[in-house]
Amino acid sequence: MSRIQNAVIASVKTALGWVPAQWLPGGTPDPLLARRAAIGRQDSRLDGPAKVRGEARFAAEVVMEGLCYAALVHAVVTRGRISRLDTTTAEAAPGVLLVLTHRNMPRISTLALIGVTDLSAVGNSSLPILQDPEVRYNGQIVAAVVAETQAQADHAASLIEIDYAAEPARTHFDRAKAEARTPPSILIEKNHVSVGDAEGELRRAAFKVDNLYCTPAQNHNAIELHGLTVAWEGESVVVHDATQMIAPSARALAKLFGLKKDRVRVLSPYVGGGFGGKGMWDHQVVAVAAARLVGRPLRLMLTREGVYRSVGGRSRSEQRVAIGADSDGRFTALLHTGYSIMPPYGACPEQYSLCTRALYRSNSFEILQRHLDLDIVPNTYMRAPGEAIGTFSLESAVDELAHAMGIDPIELRRRNEPERHPIHHAPFSQRAMTEAFAMGAERFGWARRSPDPGRQQDGEWRIGMGCAAGSFPYARMPGANVRLTLREDGSATIASSAQEMGMGTATVQVQHAADRLGLPVEAISFEMGDSALPAAPMAGGSSQTVSLAAAITAASDKLIAEMLRLAGNDSPLAGLRAGEVHLADAGIVCSDDPARHESFRSILARAARDEVVVTAAGSAPLEMLKFAMHSSSAIFCEVRVSAVTGEVRVDRLLGSFDCGTILNPKTAASQFRGGMIMGLGLALTEETLFDPRSGRVMNPTLADYHIPVHLDIPDIDVIWTGIPDPRSPLGARGIGEIGITGVAAAVANAVFNATGKRIRDLPITLDKLL
Ligand code: MOS
Repeated sequence: MSRIQNAVIASVKTALGWVPAQWLPGGTPDPLLARRAAIGRQDSRLDGPAKVRGEARFAAEVVMEGLCYAALVHAVVTRGRISRLDTTTAEAAPGVLLVLTHRNMPRISTLALIGVTDLSAVGNSSLPILQDPEVRYNGQIVAAVVAETQAQADHAASLIEIDYAAEPARTHFDRAKAEARTPPSILIEKNHVSVGDAEGELRRAAFKVDNLYCTPAQNHNAIELHGLTVAWEGESVVVHDATQMIAPSARALAKLFGLKKDRVRVLSPYVGGGFGGKGMWDHQVVAVAAARLVGRPLRLMLTREGVYRSVGGRSRSEQRVAIGADSDGRFTALLHTGYSIMPPYGACPEQYSLCTRALYRSNSFEILQRHLDLDIVPNTYMRAPGEAIGTFSLESAVDELAHAMGIDPIELRRRNEPERHPIHHAPFSQRAMTEAFAMGAERFGWARRSPDPGRQQDGEWRIGMGCAAGSFPYARMPGANVRLTLREDGSATIASSAQEMGMGTATVQVQHAADRLGLPVEAISFEMGDSALPAAPMAGGSSQTVSLAAAITAASDKLIAEMLRLAGNDSPLAGLRAGEVHLADAGIVCSDDPARHESFRSILARAARDEVVVTAAGSAPLEMLKFAMHSSSAIFCEVRVSAVTGEVRVDRLLGSFDCGTILNPKTAASQFRGGMIMGLGLALTEETLFDPRSGRVMNPTLADYHIPVHLDIPDIDVIWTGIPDPRSPLGARGIGEIGITGVAAAVANAVFNATGKRIRDLPITLDKLL
């Protein structure tokens, strides 16, 4: 993103600072907060029964007549060019229908990189896809084979002969630093923040810490592999994909293949985990092209290794965090700078410095991210990109300072709790970080912790407690559309191309719509997962729930206007304006005089209508520019570390969250817990190993890349403040990514408390503790 963007956003923020809050979305609290019934209830997931019975069809399970199957060939050099390509044996192999290489791939343009303003911008990479003999990273897709069966496709793929003329490649993180780039902005934030003389303040500070923290590359490992089933019919194509961006994918594919928008339909009713990894990658484009060439429905599912080879993950990073404090522990300087990988053809800036802009007050700040170009599959968004690893560094540093000063780390945080946004001074919409810590400390038994490391032992085990804060920005996406159908029988359907990746999208929106429309949950259905429905933005940045909620609210407002018009003068509501009524008891009621009520059924019957249909879009998300809005967390952890082997076992983990209204405690607790489990992987086990000579991932399997398993996971306790955010739809903020945020630091801080060893290099494997 550009300097122009910085200037535009800065002036919008300044202007919004002057606009009275009540003129804006979020200006007055959502009136539904005062009369919620289904919201906040522990409803079970609507998609649960279908999934438990195995009836939910995922993208690579869709049944089709005449299906053929594709297999991919991935490059084994990092940079170079295909010097010899022989597909004759593969083509002659049993069952083979097509061998697709750069020679016969249709000429297409490149994908626009993921963004929030362009609804067809979904690419994680803007590199050409099978357009030339160039290899740009190790693992790049260089050929595809289509055959009658998967086994035949896999076999034939192994028969393709490729020689490469290798060229020098950039594969060394440290060597790339000399040519690091400094982008003007990080997402919608200005990259370089310099407030006061932070280096000078740090030098003069009574107490200080100043250290480097390293976090490794990580890969996506959703249970459901990336896959799609494609069927062309003439100039139209239906794509059953596993994606967290349904409508945007359809638009992007239409653009790429030169089709009218309504000729591409993307269906994705269920996704078996997204976490940022289920966007548009090369394999979908290759599959859509191949299906057109063979003229048959086609299935392509990446292998687990294929995901490592051609779908990016979290970037490696190296971060410096320095904090200076006066003798009372008040921060006088806060510095957070560092390096991560973001090739110019990638989309994700790994925004590890964002948390440092929002968590603490300080007299001075110095914040700057630098990007390294390496020839690897572009890194992408991976659950709390940036925040997950940024809080590891920042919250380790806060713990280190607390230890050096002999202050309780929660007390040190309390002393630096900001009253307004620390950088741009916007008011917080709602923030109860201090309460979240207090609740968490009480429940966890923080008072039992000894501040001196290594005090608590049990045989060979050293026991310690740690805590950390987390912060994740609130986001609501523009371009959320829904269609609301209200029928004469008192039922309603909400339709939107929204995504269900396992978090309970339909479940909570049905709860929401029930309260918004004044109907029981049983009367409401939610249609989703189909680009033919009104377009929803992607599910990402923990933004989908409020984005859809704003659109449903807008549709409900339209419905009120339409129903009042239909009610006419023969209704107890006659003469009332939209602002004077709300929906309740399956009808419209005067807000000041509940006796004036007419049911939907009665209004529709008198108007001789079977149904009313309205479509609406959510308001522009200006609240996120006027206010400082963040989900917050306080994470507590207790570990055991073996003095003999260095092995770390997590005995207890607690998350205390401040994320606005919790819409459904069951689905929310599950999301928080899932994030926290991923946080344990980040802290202790997960690490993608690149061979620096070849730029090739060396551990592309679940046997070699260690994600936590059941035995690694203790009981996880999840609590929340539940205080509604007066500026957001439903008073809610995102909960998908705050769960992982802060966990790695809480574990590292607990390990220090147990052993006196400070590990600043993730993952905390046993070799680092011996
Ligand atoms: Mo997320 S990492 O925005 O799915």
